[in-house]
Amino acid sequence: MKRIGMLTSGGDCQALNAAMRGVAKSLFNSGEKVEIYGFENGYQGLIYSKFRMLTGRDFSGILTKGGTMLGTSRTPFKTIREPDAEGLDKVQAMKQTYYKLQLDCLVILGGNGTHKTANLLHEEGLNVVTLPKTIDNDIWGTDMTFGFQSAVDIATTAIDQIHTTAASHSRVFIVEVMGHKAGWLTLNAGMAGGADIILIPEIPYDIDHVVQKIEERDQGGSSFTIIAVAEGAISKEDAELSKKEYKKKLAKRPYPSVSYEIAAEIQKRSGREVRVTIPGHVQRGGAPCPYDRVFASRLGAEAGRMILEGKYGYMVGYKNREMVRVPLKEVAGKLKMVSPDAAIVKQAEMLGISFGE
Ligand code: F6P
Repeated sequence: MKRIGMLTSGGDCQALNAAMRGVAKSLFNSGEKVEIYGFENGYQGLIYSKFRMLTGRDFSGILTKGGTMLGTSRTPFKTIREPDAEGLDKVQAMKQTYYKLQLDCLVILGGNGTHKTANLLHEEGLNVVTLPKTIDNDIWGTDMTFGFQSAVDIATTAIDQIHTTAASHSRVFIVEVMGHKAGWLTLNAGMAGGADIILIPEIPYDIDHVVQKIEERDQGGSSFTIIAVAEGAISKEDAELSKKEYKKKLAKRPYPSVSYEIAAEIQKRSGREVRVTIPGHVQRGGAPCPYDRVFASRLGAEAGRMILEGKYGYMVGYKNREMVRVPLKEVAGKLKMVSPDAAIVKQAEMLGISFGE
C-alpha cells in the first residue's frame, strides 16, 4: 500500500493535469494498492491541511484540460521559515500534515521556487518526487519543462497575427512575451514567428542597435519590423546596475513594462510608429498542445515508476531525449538560462535576427 500526496505550486501552466494523470494512472495500473491525496492551492494545502482524496474518476477526462484541478498559489521560499500571521511554523505544519496522513511520498509539480521548498522538505526527511512545470523552461537539470511548448504555440500565434497588420501599416510592432528571468519562450516564439529582433534578459540590448536594425530593414525594402521582447529584457546600461539600483529604477519607470519603454525610445530616435501587444497570461492558459500532453504524461509515468521503486529526492527531468532522475539538491536554487553562445542564438543570428547587441 502506497499513500501519496500531490500538489501543484507556483504559476500554473498547461499540462499540469496531464502530468498528475500520468502519475496516478501509472500507480493505479501497477497492481499496487494506492491512495492519492490532493492538496489544494499548492503548499498552502499542505500547511493548512486542506486536502481531498482523489480516485480514478478525478483523473479521468483531464488530459486535455488546462490549469490545475488542485488549484495553485505562490508560497515564497524566502519566507517559508517565517511563521504565518497566527505564528504557525509552516515547515513544521507541512511535516505534520505529511505524517498525519502517513504518506509514503509527496509528488510536487512546480517551477524554480517550488523546487527550493521541495528540496527543503526532502532535507527535513520527507520523501519527495517532483515534476518540472513552467512555460519559462528555465528549470535546471532538464532540457524541457512541460507547459513550455504550449506557451510557445500561443506566443507564436500572437506574433503571426501581428505580421499582417504590421505589414499593412508599415509599423514597428513589439510583442511582449512572458519570462522575467529567462528568454527561452521569447527566443523560440520569436524564431517561430519570424521576428526580426529578439530581446531577452540574457543578452542585454543597445537601443541604438535596435533602431539600426529597423533602419536597415527599411533600406532593404521591408517597411515593417517585428520585435519579440521578453518581460525581463534589459538594456546594456541597466545591466550594469546592481540588483538594488535596478529595482529602484524599475519602481520609478514611467512605463507599464519594458516594451513600452523600448517603444518610446524607438519612436523618439527614429520617428517610426510603434505599437505594443502583450498576450500576457493567455500564454499560460487553455489546453496543452499535443507535445505537452505526451511529455507530461511520460514524466508522470516516470514519477510513478520512481515511487514504486521507492526512489525519492529526485526531479524527473529530460536530458538528451532520455528521462533522467535529477537530485533535488542539484535543481534547487539554480536557473537554466539561455547562453548568449548557445547554438540556437548563433543560428538565429545567421538567419539575420538581431539581439540588439
Ligand atoms: O513563471 C511563469 C510566469 O508565467 C512567468 O513567465 C511570468 O513572468 C510570471 O509567471 C507571471 O507571474 P504571475 O502569474 O504571478 O503574474
